[in-house]
Amino acid sequence: TAVAFFTQAMPLPQVIAPSSTTNGVDTYNISIRKNTKEIVPGKLTEVFTFNGGFPGLIRATSGRPVVVNQYNKLDMPASIHLHGGHVAPEHDGDPMATIAPGGVRTYHYPNQQGHAPLWLHDHAHHMESEHVYRGLSAFYLLTDAQEKALPLPSGSYDVPIMLREANIDEAGQLVYTMDDFMGRSTILANGKAWPYFQVAARKYRFRLLNSTNLRFFTLRLQDGSPFVQIGSDGGLLEKPFSTDTVSLSPGERAEVVIDFSRYPVGTRLVLENTEGPGPAELTGKVLRFDVVKTATDSSSVPATLRTLPALPAVTGRRTVVMSMDEDGRPHPQGYMDGKVYDHHRIDSTVPWGGSEIWTVTNSNQAIPHNFHIHLVQFRVLERNGNPPGPAEAGLKDTIRVMPGETVKFQATFDSYRGKYLYHCHMLDHAAMGMMAQMEVV
Ligand code: C2O
Ligand code: CU
Repeated sequence: TAVAFFTQAMPLPQVIAPSSTTNGVDTYNISIRKNTKEIVPGKLTEVFTFNGGFPGLIRATSGRPVVVNQYNKLDMPASIHLHGGHVAPEHDGDPMATIAPGGVRTYHYPNQQGHAPLWLHDHAHHMESEHVYRGLSAFYLLTDAQEKALPLPSGSYDVPIMLREANIDEAGQLVYTMDDFMGRSTILANGKAWPYFQVAARKYRFRLLNSTNLRFFTLRLQDGSPFVQIGSDGGLLEKPFSTDTVSLSPGERAEVVIDFSRYPVGTRLVLENTEGPGPAELTGKVLRFDVVKTATDSSSVPATLRTLPALPAVTGRRTVVMSMDEDGRPHPQGYMDGKVYDHHRIDSTVPWGGSEIWTVTNSNQAIPHNFHIHLVQFRVLERNGNPPGPAEAGLKDTIRVMPGETVKFQATFDSYRGKYLYHCHMLDHAAMGMMAQMEVV
């Protein structure tokens, strides 16, 4: 069938409003339910949603707690995780702590952390991959006074974009099969296949989130011109830097400022993806920016965005080896340190209050992975023995680990005690067992 590129406008994520804002707490009542959306033109696709949005968006402020009552209206269990959030273990969306169909669970998010583009998604054991694929995915944009004081583009010039892949059949329905790298070749931005987005000839801030199950993106503007990266998983970088590409493995976030004032009105500029696997004629295109008018612009990108605290003294070290069967067997499994995930097992016992260096290796020959740890934002110290590049110099919770690569980071465990996960965030890999549990004691 003919693919329609850039025929639909990119919507903004659907804002989920609190049902009460009294006593300094924002309380949300969210229905986890099915909805239908026009992802490809002229067809209605059944999706799973938080309150109907595909994707949704919650806005929160540091120091102001959020309580979410999640009502599960699906006919399967769900468990909701705030990716990148510092959350008590009983509110972290543990794979086994599911909300039964017809049930409700209350999650407390204290928001005792700085601004960051966080992500709300399903984490139910063996179902997280399919549930996120079907749409249980929402931005959770946490802001603070420090971020708000900066002169960055704001309001309608501050645009969250959730990127993902999908395999959509002739009837317009989402096809889910495990590890379907090649089939998922339709690229969605905020729930639309290859949309266009109308911009004014001025600066915009884009908050990019890769919510795919498997696909890694490396994004560039069609004309190869530079833009400025200002943030990553854990919020703003200390220093913005100019670049012509931004890379995102599943679960990673990047914030960029693109200045469209250099383009005449009428310019159309495709945001491209150069990272495979293909088919590149499909997966190589993401969305198109259409410059439709001029506008004033008093925003700017300061040379210093924030100062991150110095790393504390190191109290411990550990290694993690990620791998997956790559001998072509019919039902490959994924491993952390040679073991398939078992929720009864504690894989790492981490002393509370410590600051540890973790060395994470992908021992596969050809299969990429990435690594995500709950509870903390860490600092990358080394990638393959070299200092991290500027995109990985800020606060991170998810990092790519390509075949044979080793990444070293430092994480400080001084908030909650209890059990938390670490895993490959290619969600199909996590569902194949590539997940482990630590206990902070
Ligand atoms: Cu994005 Cu274990 O989560
Ligand atoms: Cu993996």
